Amino acid sequence: MDKKIRLDYNNMMASAIGNEGITKSDIDTLSGELKKAHDALVKGRKEGRLDFMDLPYNQSEITKEIKNYVVEVKDKFDAFVVLGIGGSALGPMAVQQAINNPYYNELSKKERGGFPKLYIVDNVDPEKLTYLFKVINIENCLFNVISKSGSTSETMSQFMIIKDMLEKKLGTSKNNIVCTTDKEKGNLIKIAQEEGYKTFIIPSGVGGRFSQLTPVGLLPAAFCGIDIDQLLAGAACMDEMCKTEDIYKNPAYMYATLNHISMQKGKNICVMMPYADGLKFISDWYAQLWAESLGKKFDRAGNEVYVGSTPVKALGATDQHSQVQLYTEGPFDKIIVLMGVDNYRESIEIPKIYADMPSLGFLGGHTHNKLIQTEQMATEYALLKSKKLNMTITLPEVNEFTIGQILYFFEIATSFAGELLNINAFDQPGVEEGKDATYAMFGRPGYEEKEKELKAAPKKDSGFII
Ligand code: PA5
Repeated sequence: MDKKIRLDYNNMMASAIGNEGITKSDIDTLSGELKKAHDALVKGRKEGRLDFMDLPYNQSEITKEIKNYVVEVKDKFDAFVVLGIGGSALGPMAVQQAINNPYYNELSKKERGGFPKLYIVDNVDPEKLTYLFKVINIENCLFNVISKSGSTSETMSQFMIIKDMLEKKLGTSKNNIVCTTDKEKGNLIKIAQEEGYKTFIIPSGVGGRFSQLTPVGLLPAAFCGIDIDQLLAGAACMDEMCKTEDIYKNPAYMYATLNHISMQKGKNICVMMPYADGLKFISDWYAQLWAESLGKKFDRAGNEVYVGSTPVKALGATDQHSQVQLYTEGPFDKIIVLMGVDNYRESIEIPKIYADMPSLGFLGGHTHNKLIQTEQMATEYALLKSKKLNMTITLPEVNEFTIGQILYFFEIATSFAGELLNINAFDQPGVEEGKDATYAMFGRPGYEEKEKELKAAPKKDSGFII
């Protein structure tokens, strides 16, 4: 079985879809820009500005340390709880949901291979955290505080709550907290060093949403029995596939280029629709990567450009019964990316009953595997028939090796798309603005000017509130 993922972009092309589609000449006209984008990535990597690209190769020491640590402590804990948000939570969630049994936490510890349950607390919703405390005993949990900046309010406030609870209960929080953060920036590393928490380091040149293949994602994955070497091996395999500058041989470049041309044609929405429940959270992870990297006001020359493409999450076959109506008959403003699987890890057969009712009996004897794959093909056909741009990414199977490929594929595609847009895909000033406004409203020292700015903002007109 070929272990590589495939990108089928037939239905993006005018040859299949007609005038709405993209021609080879649309792609070839961009050859100068494509070359420039490729050269920029190669140069950035060589100069150490794109450290995420080297993660498949330079982490043998760290993966060894992670695996040893997991073996050393896993038996002591019933649950591993991630405290993080954005790039510090979506990757761990996506990988665990893809690889493990969907009812992982409901299995016995023995059925989980001796690994603890996994919870990911990625918000500051007071209800959700309170309810978590009703299903865990904090003394039996290992809390992984993940923050690249070491200062994110959501994560640090969760940490403060849990540290306080642990110390009140156990007299110390040292044995129940492990930190993942930058080696020098932010409060978390200082606290970890002063208070003696076990710590894993996020390489400085790797930004939050590109950090899943660092200890950010590798530690939680290893704590729920996921083979982190295979994740990295999959990423390395995709790296090989994406080294060529030949756009017709490079799946990530092609994905980015087709999106870029679509954006130029006003199709600024990209729907990600996996046909596997396990891949649902890959869409969440992708949505952050794509939106936060590409949604930018300024290009590199400082011109106001207001670019980006809005990621939308959908799930096949579930959303065939909701969103697909819009995708087939609605406006020509989006592209739809289907994500399929050749071999599902399980098979389930529909019994041959109701043979006397032909409109039901026809299902009998077939598998759900065949049904979901057929529904995917049917959606692809319906989109094609209504001339809606779509492409399909296929995983031979969902496993660590293919998920490693998928993560790396989208990271390269996003970086390449950023180059084509001539924007900085690695910053997030719009996110920082919201963080700063929160600090100011909470009275954080150093944010007095921001507080004044907020106070000067137009007051709400009660006439517009019903
Ligand atoms: O991609 C990013 O940089 C952000 O989404 C961050 O991951 C998110 O804001 C969390 O930041 P941190 O890991 O610094 O707590």
